[in-house]
Amino acid sequence: MHLRYQVLFVALLTSIVTAAGIPSSTDALTECKACPYSLCRNKPWNANNITLTCWTAGTKIVDDTTWLKTEDNCYVTQYDLKEYDGDYTVDLLYCGAISSDWTSLHAKTKYMSECFNTPYVLRKRVKAYKNEVDLTLTCVTRNTTVTDDDDRFEIMGSAKWYKTSSNCYVHEATLYHVEYEDELEDCGPTPGVDYYAHQPDPVTSSSLAPTATATPGLNATIFGTLDKRSDLTRRWIYNTTIGEEYANCTEKATINNSTENAVEQVFEFGQSIDVQCGTVEYGEGRDNYTIFLLTTDFCWVQDWMTDPNLIEAPLRQQAYPHCEVFTDTES
Ligand SMILES: *[C@@H]1O[C@H](CO)[C@@H](O)[C@H](O)[C@H]1NC(C)=O
Ligand SMILES: *[C@@H]1O[C@H](CO)[C@@H](O)[C@H](O)[C@H]1NC(C)=O
Ligand SMILES: *[C@@H]1O[C@H](CO)[C@@H](O)[C@H](O)[C@H]1NC(C)=O
Ligand SMILES: *[C@@H]1O[C@H](CO)[C@@H](O)[C@H](O)[C@H]1NC(C)=O
Ligand SMILES: *[C@@H]1O[C@H](CO)[C@@H](O)[C@H](O)[C@H]1NC(C)=O
Ligand SMILES: *[C@@H]1O[C@H](CO)[C@@H](O)[C@H](O)[C@H]1NC(C)=O
Ligand SMILES: *[C@@H]1O[C@H](CO)[C@@H](O)[C@H](O)[C@H]1NC(C)=O
Ligand SMILES: *[C@@H]1O[C@H](CO)[C@@H](O)[C@H](O)[C@H]1NC(C)=O
Repeated sequence: MHLRYQVLFVALLTSIVTAAGIPSSTDALTECKACPYSLCRNKPWNANNITLTCWTAGTKIVDDTTWLKTEDNCYVTQYDLKEYDGDYTVDLLYCGAISSDWTSLHAKTKYMSECFNTPYVLRKRVKAYKNEVDLTLTCVTRNTTVTDDDDRFEIMGSAKWYKTSSNCYVHEATLYHVEYEDELEDCGPTPGVDYYAHQPDPVTSSSLAPTATATPGLNATIFGTLDKRSDLTRRWIYNTTIGEEYANCTEKATINNSTENAVEQVFEFGQSIDVQCGTVEYGEGRDNYTIFLLTTDFCWVQDWMTDPNLIEAPLRQQAYPHCEVFTDTES
């Protein structure tokens, strides 16, 4: 008797709950994940045709811990879905508690390392790691490209990026060799999320980037309409050559106190150097400044001695990372 009552009760509940799922949509740049946490790997989904099947709790996005499972078998945060005239936690079944599930691997930055919201170069960065920082990597994108002519993924001939525990991507070229890399799973499709929209408080953009940028949309073709980057533009680490007879690579980024500024290396004309970031020393008077570039040997070369130089590319000039921004020392 008691048993029968239970069965009936469950049947009644199920009929209240929308069995077929609830359609939804999003305007936000967002991702659908293998589990309901920000660090979970992404799964392919159709963001233009979303049907929600059950709800669960996961990473709190701003003020919202509800994540919804879609018919594509992945989880999207409620925060990025269009407002629903109802309550998913009432109208949908509970998916059950979903545990977190991602790979992790230790790595270390070798150079100053920008960490972007996406596995390609953006003006905005989430973190700016110093060199010699211990990182926890959670996945790898070995070979992401959106379109054939989109070269923003590549730095120094490689398109490999790793996601850190801060949910942003660092480029292979800025790290020491990552051992046991095969143990990392693929990050999946990486449209990115609107990192800034997901912050509880507005992040002061001045500390993050010199200029703002358009936010890429979910639609991959939108990537193509972002300002085009030539091979001389925002590409750090970048390689250039010495354009003068020779160039002193000094211990400090200053033209002052030459006796106290050791010459660590002397580069010859035509010699190739790799540059991590730049800094400016201002002199007296208007427009009196010297740009210094930090090489991968950790000494400073004056920009005017390089060919091509930094300021030959307007975009690079505007958006190059000042060495001073690299302050993050934790993954
Ligand atoms: C949306 O996806 C469902 C299956 O998940 C499919 O049956 C339906 O035709 C799709 N609708 C559109 C407009 O593509
Ligand atoms: C990278 O992508 C290109 C083009 O899609 C493909 O030809 C190549 O095999 C891929 N390389 C790896 C290592 O996956
Ligand atoms: C992407 O956007 C372009 C231009 O807005 C549009 O023509 C195209 O159909 C869209 N593609 C998808 C898959 O939504
Ligand atoms: C930078 O490196 C690439 C690939 O190694 C090379 O093709 C290019 O000529 C180099 N550029 C400079 C300015 O050295
Ligand atoms: C390079 O350093 C040497 C001292 O080691 C100095 O005599 C020389 O003037 C410097 N050259 C330039 C171009 O700064
Ligand atoms: C330059 O030298 C002066 C005098 O020796 C010293 O006070 C100053 O701190 C030095 N500046 C730098 C950047 O080393
Ligand atoms: C730039 O400033 C330095 C001092 O920092 C000064 O020695 C130099 O003469 C100035 N150059 C010009 C062109 O004003
Ligand atoms: C170099 O000298 C100029 C002018 O004396 C001064 O403004 C600037 O702060 C000095 N730079 C450093 C690194 O000491």
